Order: sequence, then structure tokens, then C-alpha cells
Amino acid sequence: MSKLRILITGGTGYIGSHTAVELLNSGYEVFIIDNLSNSNAEVVDKIEKITGIRPSFSKTDLCNKTELKEYFKKTKNIDAVIHFAAFKAVGESVQKPMMYYSNNISGMINLLEEMAENKIQNIVYSSSCTVYGEADTLPVTEESPVKKAESPYGFTKQAGEQMLFDISKAGDLHSVILRYFNPAGAHDSSLIGELPVGIPNNLVPYITQTAIGEREILTVNGNDYDTPDGTNIRDYIHVVDLAKAHLAALDRVLDKKSNEMTEVFNLGTGKGNSVMEVIRSFEKVSGTKLNYKIGPRREGDVVSIYSDTKKANEVLGWKAERDINDMMLTSWNWQNAISLKK
Ligand code: UFG
Repeated sequence: MSKLRILITGGTGYIGSHTAVELLNSGYEVFIIDNLSNSNAEVVDKIEKITGIRPSFSKTDLCNKTELKEYFKKTKNIDAVIHFAAFKAVGESVQKPMMYYSNNISGMINLLEEMAENKIQNIVYSSSCTVYGEADTLPVTEESPVKKAESPYGFTKQAGEQMLFDISKAGDLHSVILRYFNPAGAHDSSLIGELPVGIPNNLVPYITQTAIGEREILTVNGNDYDTPDGTNIRDYIHVVDLAKAHLAALDRVLDKKSNEMTEVFNLGTGKGNSVMEVIRSFEKVSGTKLNYKIGPRREGDVVSIYSDTKKANEVLGWKAERDINDMMLTSWNWQNAISLKK
């Protein structure tokens, strides 16, 4: 039997590259497109090094309709698309909303048009727990209300979800929407991981860059929240666990296992950790004392959020297996590997 052919947009990025590895290891034929705006083509070599299989790669921008059309003209018989390609920095999206609307929304529209044109009827979409905003009750289930977006980035994720609901309802598109909580960690090989450009916004790369001496000090964004230690609580999930969930999601759309055309799943561990707990975990596994100080609250931060994982566990048959210590250790190993190269 010939292999199923899966197109990964944004496949050289952080979650995309880990997903490419899991797909190749599971016998899929993988096609990656990426405009390399926040990653580099070397990632393709790393994916090959890990799996022993080189995925097909094309530097293609979803916002360039002509380029995308050409791509689909020469790449036939794609069975499903996993759509990651998007900008993802909350703060930057507030500064440059048009850049986010244009890239994330127009890019997705172009992709969906080409999928329709080429009769590709299955998509797995990378969404975010940001759609829940400040949730009224915790943990959040997939039924928790989607709140008014707090940033242009959040709005683009909501818009992407809505497009899938509407298009699937009107036609033949089967979609699975995955709402990620806070991805962290890196591949055990330390060959792929998160590569933040410039000063990181996210907690974990900021911690590892501080510990290695690339940043002077980590600022904890407030310790006067209504949580046990006063710092924000998030549901950190290992990127390899997250990548594996895409296999289950693909099975679900490809085998038409659901009666619903669009399904939504939360992807988290179900366990919340505070910023201070993350720092303590890092210090424990790395044996390094982290230089940090307490600063003011960061605008736009929700107090606490973590997932109810029941639906993903029962319906997808997937469960996160790795804990916060594991995330910190693999992130630290990855940081050491990339800093060595500099
Ligand atoms: N934090 C610090 N210091 C830092 C960086 C972060 O204390 O230098 C804190 C934040 O204030 C927050 C926690 O660490 O309390 C996690 O912050 P991140 O920036 O790592 O993650 P967020 O929870 O803000 O954002 C993540 C994803 C977004 C997604 C959002 C949804 O990065 O893509 O979750 O809530 F939209």
C-alpha cells in the first residue's frame, strides 16, 4: 500500500518540525512548506538525521497565491494538511495587527482555496487556548466559551477556527482543531527545538537563555496574583507529546471517525504549574541557580489556565506522558546544543 501523503505548512517551525518527525516515524510521506520567516532550512536536515528519511521541502509562502498554486500543481494527491504556518507572538500582534491579519488570515484563506481546488478534504488546524481568554471556570473544556480575543493574534486563531466550522458545514472539508496550551521542551536528540528570534517572549526560552548567560536576568511578571504562590498558572505541555497528538488527529480525519465535520480538542496535560514552579523545576533538573527578579504584571496575561483533557484522552486516545521536569531538561539540553554552535 502506498504511503499517505501529508502536507505540513510551517513544518520547519517549532511544533511543525516535531510533528514531521512523528509522522515520518509512523510511515507517512511528509511534504513541508514554509516561508522560513521564523525558521531555517537546516531543520530539514535535522529531521532527516533523526528519522533517516528526508521529507520533501519547498520554500513557499502561503501569502503568495501564485507560488502556492504552482506548488499544488506539482504536488498532487495530498491526503491531508496540517496547518501550522502563522505568526504567534501576542505582543507583536498588538503592535502590528495588519501583519497578523494579513499573514495568518489571508495565508489560511489561500491555503483553503487551494485545498478546495485540489479536492483535499482533510485538515488539522493549530489553534490555541488563547481563544478561551480569562476562563470563568477551570479546567477549561472544549465547551468553555470562546471569549472576545485579547490580541490580534488571538483573533486570527478564532477566525481560523470559524472559517473551518463554516466551510466544513457548507461542504466536504473534515477538520480537527487542536487548541494547544503552553508548548515547551525539545526533541530528545537536541537536534530540533524552539529557535526564538531576538528576545524571547515566552517563559521557557527566556529561562534557558538566562541560565546560559545570553540574558542577564529573568523577570517574573508579577507575584501578586490570586494563586497559591502569587504567580500565573499555565498548562505546559511537552512538544513531543503535542506532536504525537497530531497523529491521532490525522487518524481521526482520514478515517472519518467522527459524525461531525469539525471537531475541537484541548491539548494540555491537565495540570497547571505556576511561573515559580517552572523556575524551581528548571533549577532542579539543570543544577543551575537561575538569576531572576519579581517585576510588575504583564499586560494581557490571564491569571490561570489549564485544560480538561478528557475529550482528547477518550476520543483521540491520546494522553500527554511527559512532565514539567522533562520539559525543562530537554529545553536545557537544546539550549546547550544551540549555544555550543554559536
Ligand atoms: N513570564 C514571565 N517572564 C517572562 C516570560 C513569561 O514571568 O519573561 C510568565 C508570563 O507572564 C506568564 C507565563 O510566564 O505568566 C507564561 O508566559 P508565556 O509568554 O510563555 O506564555 P503565555 O501563556 O503568555 O502564551 C502562550 C502562547 C501563546 C498563546 C497563549 C494563550 O505563547 O501563543 O499561551 O494563553 F496564545
